[in-house]
Amino acid sequence: MIERIAILVFFVSSSFFSNVFADQAVYVGMEKCRPCHSAIVEAYSGFKRSRNFRILEMRHKEHDPQCLPCHTTGYGKPGGFISVEKTPYLKNVQCEVCHGPASLHIKAKTVEEKRKTIKIPHNLCTKCHSRHGHREF
Ligand code: HEC
Ligand code: HEC
Ligand code: HEC
Ligand code: HEC
Repeated sequence: MIERIAILVFFVSSSFFSNVFADQAVYVGMEKCRPCHSAIVEAYSGFKRSRNFRILEMRHKEHDPQCLPCHTTGYGKPGGFISVEKTPYLKNVQCEVCHGPASLHIKAKTVEEKRKTIKIPHNLCTKCHSRHGHREF
C-alpha cells in the first residue's frame, strides 16, 4: 500500500514538474534559428554585436559576472548563459536577448502559435546601451 502511494506521488509530482518545465521557454542559441530564418541569421552575423564576446576574452573578463549580463544571451535566466565551458553557444548578444527564450517557438506547430511564443521587443536597447556608454574598459 505504502509503495503504491509512493509510486502515485512520484507520478503525480513528476508529471507536475515536467508540465512546469514544458511551459517555460528556455534559451536555445542562434544556430537553432537558421533553418527557418537563414537570411536574418546571416545578416545579424555581420553585426559586431553578434561577436561581442571576443572583447571580454581579449581582456580576460570572460568569467567576470559584472560583464556577462550585457555580453551574453540569457545570463542568470533559466536555460541561459552559465559559463564559456558549459554554454559556449550562448556567448554574444544573440537573437534571444531581444526576442526572449525560443524553445517553445521552435516547437510550435502553427504560424499563430509561432507568433504567440516569441516576443517582439520594445524599448529594449537602453537595457545595455546607456547614454554614457562605458569607454573606461
Ligand atoms: C521551425 C521553424 C522555425 C524556427 C527554428 C524558428 N522560427 Fe521564428 N518563426 C517561424 C515561423 C513559421 C514564424 C511566423 C512567420 C510569420 O509570421 O509569417 C516565425 C516568426 C518569428 C518571429 C516574428 C514573430 C511575430 O510576431 O511576427 C520572430 C521574432 C522569430 N520567429 C524569431 C525566431 C528566433 C529568435 C529563432 C531561433 C531562436 C526562431 N525564430 C526559430 C519559424 C521558425
Ligand atoms: C549594462 C550593460 C553592460 C555591462 C554590464 C558591460 N557592458 Fe561592455 N558594452 C555594453 C554595450 C552596450 C557596448 C557597446 C557600445 C558602448 O556602449 O560602448 C559595450 C561595449 C564594450 C566594449 C567595446 C567598446 C568600447 O569601446 O568600450 C568593451 C571592451 C566592453 N564592453 C567590455 C566590458 C567589460 C570588461 C565589462 C565588465 C567589467 C562590461 N563590458 C560590462 C554593455 C555592457
Ligand atoms: C538587438 C535586438 C534584436 C536582435 C539581437 C534580433 N532582433 Fe529580430 N527584431 C528586433 C526588433 C526590434 C524587431 C521588430 C522590427 C520591426 O518591427 O521593424 C525584430 C523583428 C524580427 C522578426 C520579424 C520581422 C522580420 O523581419 O521578419 C524576425 C523573424 C526576427 N526579428 C528574427 C530574429 C533572429 C532570427 C535574430 C537572430 C539572428 C534576431 N531577430 C535578432 C530586435 C532584435
Ligand atoms: C544584451 C545587451 C544589448 C542589447 C539589449 C542591445 N545591445 Fe547593441 N550592443 C551590445 C554590445 C555588447 C555591443 C558591442 C559590440 C562590439 O563592440 O563588439 C553592441 C553594439 C551595438 C551597435 C554597434 C554596431 C554593431 O555592429 O553591432 C549598434 C548599432 C547597436 N548595438 C544597436 C542596438 C539596438 C538598436 C538595440 C535595441 C534594438 C540594441 N543594440 C540592444 C549590447 C546590446
